[in-house]
Amino acid sequence: MVHAIEAYTSRILKNPLSDNLAKQALRLIGSKLVHVCRNGQDAEARQDILLGATLAGQAFANAPVGAVHALAYPIGGIFHVPHGLSNSLVLPHVLRFNASAAAPLYAELAEVLIPGIQGDEASKTEAFINFMEQIAIDTGIERQLREVGIKESDLRRMAQEAMKQTRLLGNNPRDVTEDDAFAIYSAAF
Ligand SMILES: [Fe+2]
Repeated sequence: MVHAIEAYTSRILKNPLSDNLAKQALRLIGSKLVHVCRNGQDAEARQDILLGATLAGQAFANAPVGAVHALAYPIGGIFHVPHGLSNSLVLPHVLRFNASAAAPLYAELAEVLIPGIQGDEASKTEAFINFMEQIAIDTGIERQLREVGIKESDLRRMAQEAMKQTRLLGNNPRDVTEDDAFAIYSAAF
């Protein structure tokens, strides 16, 4: 889902092809992910997840990922946290940080994930971020950096490492400084 979200909000290479791939991926995964975590025997639903993951991969092959991945890399690289969980740990905090630049796009993704949603752009953006957080709650994965062996004293070094991911940060809808990265990690801690 992060691949699709970041492709859809990629600053540089976002395009109609990647947009459609990202939206279709989120539609498939968003509607089935919690269900398949609870009922792994539903092969048809798992097929939808696999298709969604493939489409999301095609989306970000055409419109690269951004700050969620840039900030996830030190979590995986230094602390050996799996890639998906690394992304999930910082996702809501990066989305809140990006909202001032990406709210129109996040509101569009809210309409994909929550069919029939009403309200203004800000409320749809909030609903979108809450939707993603709720998946983490419902699936029971770790939601704080402190739960995966990271200490508060590690956060500055992680922020410094994240700033090296210039290829990814350049695609993020909002510029990220080292202090921004530190603040995001602090919120995720
Ligand atoms: Fe990824």
